[in-house]
Amino acid sequence: MSSGESFYIATPIFYVNDVPHIGHAYTEVAADVLARWHRQRGDDTWLLTGTDEHGQKILRTAVANNTTPQAWADELVESAWKPLLETINIKNDDFIRTTDERHENGVRIFLQKLYDDGFIYQGEFEGHYCVGCEEYKQPSDLVAGTGEYEGQQVCAIHSKPVEVLKETNYFFRMSDFEQRLLDLYEQNPQFVQPESVRNEVIQFVKQGLRDLSISRSSFDWGIQIPWDDKHVVYVWFEALLNYVTAIGYGVDDEQFQRRWPAVQLVGKDIARFHAVIWPAMLMAAGLPVSDRVFGHGWLLVGGEKMSKSKLTGIAPQQITDTFGADAFRYYFMSAINFGQDGSFSWEDLAARYQAELANGFGNLASRVIAMVNRYYDGEIPTAGELSQADLAIKTVERAATDAADQAIADLAIHDALAEIWQLVDALNGYITEQEPWVLAKSDETRERLGTVLHTALRGLGTLAVLLSPVIPDATQKLWTALGGDGDVQDVVITEAPDWTGGDRVSALEGTLFPRIEHEPVAAP
Ligand code: ME8
Ligand code: MG
Repeated sequence: MSSGESFYIATPIFYVNDVPHIGHAYTEVAADVLARWHRQRGDDTWLLTGTDEHGQKILRTAVANNTTPQAWADELVESAWKPLLETINIKNDDFIRTTDERHENGVRIFLQKLYDDGFIYQGEFEGHYCVGCEEYKQPSDLVAGTGEYEGQQVCAIHSKPVEVLKETNYFFRMSDFEQRLLDLYEQNPQFVQPESVRNEVIQFVKQGLRDLSISRSSFDWGIQIPWDDKHVVYVWFEALLNYVTAIGYGVDDEQFQRRWPAVQLVGKDIARFHAVIWPAMLMAAGLPVSDRVFGHGWLLVGGEKMSKSKLTGIAPQQITDTFGADAFRYYFMSAINFGQDGSFSWEDLAARYQAELANGFGNLASRVIAMVNRYYDGEIPTAGELSQADLAIKTVERAATDAADQAIADLAIHDALAEIWQLVDALNGYITEQEPWVLAKSDETRERLGTVLHTALRGLGTLAVLLSPVIPDATQKLWTALGGDGDVQDVVITEAPDWTGGDRVSALEGTLFPRIEHEPVAAP
């Protein structure tokens, strides 16, 4: 890949009916790692996230809590959703709320255009609505209820009964786009990923698309239809537009041209909205479709999707309080194949923390830096003639950098980490074989000792740069201890192996990943 390209990535905007759990944090971290990597390779990067605040689900939550939906949303955004980004160290460029004036304005412009161009008409509609999903359901989306809902049909995702709604609504001519969508999936196989989600989407569209009801008149918590103030826009139709209203759609053409199209990272639960409805909307408006839609897997608890509505959510802070934000980020990115489901367990987290971060990476850094302090009073030795073993380390540095860069381009975050970990393993093997503590015993091997520690330090510098998008705090600490200048995130990531080293090391304050003394308290 060449650098300097536009890289616009967006997470879903999350419902503010409740506080975030680690499923939401998972999407945020993945998007942030990709954005940080691209930013660090010199791409014109933009990371957007935000909150979805209109619709019946939020309205009902607010009413149940004796407040207004606006006050409820304001409270949740400030007390929970923005603080989430601090908790897990997200470096987003923008945060959009669907109650922002810029969003409401952009939605009206978009709607009016589709109306003027004949893609919206008025009609009668009756269907089964799931408020949890904010979606009309097909009979095939429903399953037999159990427990208190025995004998009723319930939503397969929320396990709650659906409601029969009958309304006069505005409709979007989505059925017009059936063939164009199928052509899109066919001609651009990268458009929906991974393969399992792509197949599901294609199957869905092949069954035939119906026009989409895009307005509601039974409540008013939403954006009014510009030509008919008795209706508000259907919450999904409106929410999807955040990806363009945030970058100046209809208002700031220059910004819009510079950013669009986006890489859309979503959970597979909402891949259909992003890979069917959203591209159809964009086609109707004469805009390019998204760059890619990637539907990642679910974090499971007890074999089921962790969710707010089922009260199985674990708060991200429960993990970061004990392990820190870096470990949170590393764990979810390395332990789960991006695109597949993953079961979270405290045991697995603690074991990987200890084996990979504390022992594999943290100890390596501490030992090498300690030896430079002990044998050279902190002054970084120069390298003499390089042996095969030293050159092999340089080769791994270059190979890991290139392979990780390619994996990131393919959204294979776990593969990128596996590639980078080749260097961690190679350096550990190198130290074991070269035995610098033995070389330190004789003056005759003094030059060789210098070469080995120099090589190991440079390798650590490369690791600091390559891992900085994933574990930004620990790598900055390491970079500074290695004598690196300024911020590690300012080093061009594809040039990580070219670092020639600093003058002096300083002692690492404690270790990068301290031993966790107490077993964390399991979630209730
Ligand atoms: O659907 N595992 O918002 P939402 C992994 N507002 N990811 C999970 C997860 C889990 N168990 N649970 C949630 C909405 N997520 C709409 C989106 S976009 C225009 C509108 C993540 O609050 C994942 O990204 O229900 C999933 O798609 C999203 O949260 C759903 O968040
Ligand atoms: Mg949801």
